[in-house]
Formats: sequence, structure tokens, C-alpha cells
Amino acid sequence: MKEELENILKEAHQLEFEIKTLEDLENFRIKFLGRKGLLNNFVEKFKDLPREERAKIGEYFNYVKNEIKKIYEDLKIKLEKPKKIKFDIAHPGEKIEIGYLNILKESIKKIRETFVKLGFDIEKGREIVTEYENFDSLNMPKFHPAREMFDTLWIKNKIGKDRYLLRTHTSAHQVEIIKNKKLPLRVAIPGKTFRHEATDVRHEFQFHQIEILGIDGGANLQELKGVLEIVFSEFFNKKLDVSFKASYFPFTEPSLEVYIKCVICNGKGCQLCKNSGLLEVGGAGMVHPNVLKEAGLDPKEHYGYAAGMGIERLVMLKYKIDDIRLFNSQDLRFINQFRL
Ligand code: PHE
Repeated sequence: MKEELENILKEAHQLEFEIKTLEDLENFRIKFLGRKGLLNNFVEKFKDLPREERAKIGEYFNYVKNEIKKIYEDLKIKLEKPKKIKFDIAHPGEKIEIGYLNILKESIKKIRETFVKLGFDIEKGREIVTEYENFDSLNMPKFHPAREMFDTLWIKNKIGKDRYLLRTHTSAHQVEIIKNKKLPLRVAIPGKTFRHEATDVRHEFQFHQIEILGIDGGANLQELKGVLEIVFSEFFNKKLDVSFKASYFPFTEPSLEVYIKCVICNGKGCQLCKNSGLLEVGGAGMVHPNVLKEAGLDPKEHYGYAAGMGIERLVMLKYKIDDIRLFNSQDLRFINQFRL
């Protein structure tokens, strides 16, 4: 009896390839699956078998029936003309999430744009620099006590004689840039910097700076002050005066600390600015003669200014962020607040 079923299936498989129209398909259906078709006929026959055998053959019967149904359904889909796709023009579309820049990157972009408007070139440095670039070239030879200011992350492997480190400041690129660019020059160098610090709400292992460098062509502190005032005012969307205070850096002379009017209390004095009405936002000065010499320039004929600002601090002030560690936390509750 099983053989009979096998033959039915075989025949169905053979016929499968001869079916070209829906009419052929209907004949196929009637022949095999119709009320008086081959399969139903078979049922009539095996109804009278003993129980056990019936169960066995029944299983195979079901298999054959399913196979033939499958042939039928597949052909039906193939032969029926594709239905016209109906669509509802009023149906709301699926929302596509568009990515956006992290608030830090977005802020750096904005600051960069201001520098470009002022005629500055934007340069990119490297995060790994040599000891020479980060220190010696900036008038900080080995054992210079000012190296202490920078909690340096050294890289173990030397390449040749050079020791490598993660740049502690974007000033590391000053000499190389002065050497390679035509004078007079105005450049801004944004980038990530690293210091081996214990982290807390105001200190991070890695943070961003932007270096500002102007050589020749009237590059004096008055110009630098004007440039910084425009950059800060554009960033905070309000007029902000910049003031300088004497300071010390080995690579500038004179050296200055850069202050803006406290953006929280507008200079009246508050907890953040410790009642001074001022906030420190960076370091600056006139490029030290030794640095100019290192870049191959005669300090009697050439001159320039340099400044460096930390970016996280500015972003924290603008958006009232109270913990610098949030920037690297990858916490979406934080990140998603700043979709500008
Ligand atoms: N590189 C200094 C720092 O990171 C800042 C600075 C830059 C000071 C340029 C003077 C001139 O602290």
C-alpha cells in the first residue's frame, strides 16, 4: 500500500514540471487533492486496515499529502499574477533615528568654525608624541622642574633613542608647525590630551585642548585677546571680556593665565568663581625665544603668541554639567540630552 502512495507522489512530482497555467494547476489539484482525487480515494482504501498498520501508513499518507499541497501552493504563488501593491499614503512612516555628534565633538566643531572665520588654519596633531615634542622643544629639557606640572603617561617601548608619551598638551605641535608652515601663520590645533590624574568631578585622564598659535604678521597679545574674546563670545552666545593675569610657562615669555567673566553670575561673584567674578579658561603668552630658535627662527626677527584652552571646562560651563566624567560615561541618559 505504501508503494501506491509512493507512486502518487512520484506522479505529482513529474506533473509539477508540466504545469504552465492556472488551469493546469486546477486540474492538478482536482486530480490529487480533490474530493474524488487520488488521495481521498486512497483514504477509502486504508480505512479498513487493522489499527496498527493504519497508523503506520497514515503517517506516510500525511507526509505525501503535505508534499503535494506544497507543490500546489508554491505553483499557485508563482502563477498568480503579482498583486498590485496597495499602500496608504496617509500611513505614518517608520521613524529613522539619525545619529548626531556627541556634545563635545559638536562644541569643538563650533569653536573650530569660529577660528576658521577668523582666518586660522586648523591643524591636526597626533596623540602619541615624542618626549622632545612634548617637552624639550618647548624649553623643558630633562629634569626641568616644570615637567612636574604635567602628569605624564609614558609609553614603555622606545623607538630608537626616542621616548614616546601620550601628549599632555597640544603645545607639543608648536615647533613642528612653525617649521613646516609659511610665515606669517595663524593656526588652531584641537585634540585629545592625556594626564595621569586621579579622576574626580573636575579631572579626567583624557580631555581636549585647543592650541592657538600666531607667528609674525603683527601677532601680539592684543590680537590674541581679541581672538579669544570672539571665540568665547561666539561659544557662549554672549559678549565676554577676556582678561590676562601673569603666570608662568617655560615655553612663553611673558606667560599669562586667561580669564573670562564668570558665565554663571556674569561677573558679580558666585560660588563657582569663588566670588572673583572670573573663570580661568586657559594659558597663554608670547612664544619663548628658545622655542622660536628650536623652530629655526631668529627671535630678534620673529615673534608670536600661543595659547591653550581646555575644552571640557567650557562645555561644562555652557551646558551646566557638573561632572567631567559624564563625557566618557557612555550613559545615554546624559548623551541624549544634547541633541542640538
Ligand atoms: N600647554 C599649556 C597647558 O596645557 C597651556 C599653554 C599653551 C600655555 C600655550 C601657554 C601657551 O597647560
